[in-house]
Amino acid sequence: MNFHVITLFPNLFDSYLNDSMLKKARDKDLINIQFYNPRAVTKNKHKKVDDIPYGGGPGMVMMAEPIIDLWSTITKKTMREKLPLTKKRKFKTIVLSPGGEKFTTAYAKSSVLEYTDIIFICGRYEGIDARVADITGAELISIGDYVLTGGELAAMVMIDSLSRQVDGVLGNKHSLEEERISSHEMYTRPAEYSYKGKTYSVPSVLTEGNHKLIDEWRKKH
Ligand code: ADE
Repeated sequence: MNFHVITLFPNLFDSYLNDSMLKKARDKDLINIQFYNPRAVTKNKHKKVDDIPYGGGPGMVMMAEPIIDLWSTITKKTMREKLPLTKKRKFKTIVLSPGGEKFTTAYAKSSVLEYTDIIFICGRYEGIDARVADITGAELISIGDYVLTGGELAAMVMIDSLSRQVDGVLGNKHSLEEERISSHEMYTRPAEYSYKGKTYSVPSVLTEGNHKLIDEWRKKH
């Protein structure tokens, strides 16, 4: 899976995407992540990437041209690069926006099955000129009902969740477990843990080894 991220702040991604599961997945070439900065392709001499909103209002809006220039370069250049086997490239473009459709695991699963390349367009300031979504045919996606400072954190959340759906990123056993178990209430050793004079015990069903009962308990917790 290839991720392309259009952002004014590529450094924000450094630590999260270069450690743990995502680092391993990148090292094994299971996922590939590239960054593109609109400031690098602005044509005006002050490298301006935003302007005041038409119709008035506070803040600034990211201009369409540098973003569209990068998007065209990515789609054209990437189209020429051959994928292994006979797989044909298929692009999806996403504009991160608090007003977009809600991101879900189901969305992650179907996107990974259908696309080879996902382009994220991260907004800052008050947003992105609406013609960007129009021209690129992008979907507007939100990761939750709260407003972040920009789309970067949302793109990282989506890359993490999408990558978990890529074959080989999670061990086979781990991904099967994820399908099977609905419980989010987990315990590990010791079975009894004391804190400030009170003992907290692991539910006995989990320690008794009856897998049918364990599955039933997990469906309810
Ligand atoms: N940009 C700002 N807030 C966001 C959110 N909740 N989801 C996606 N992109 C955003």
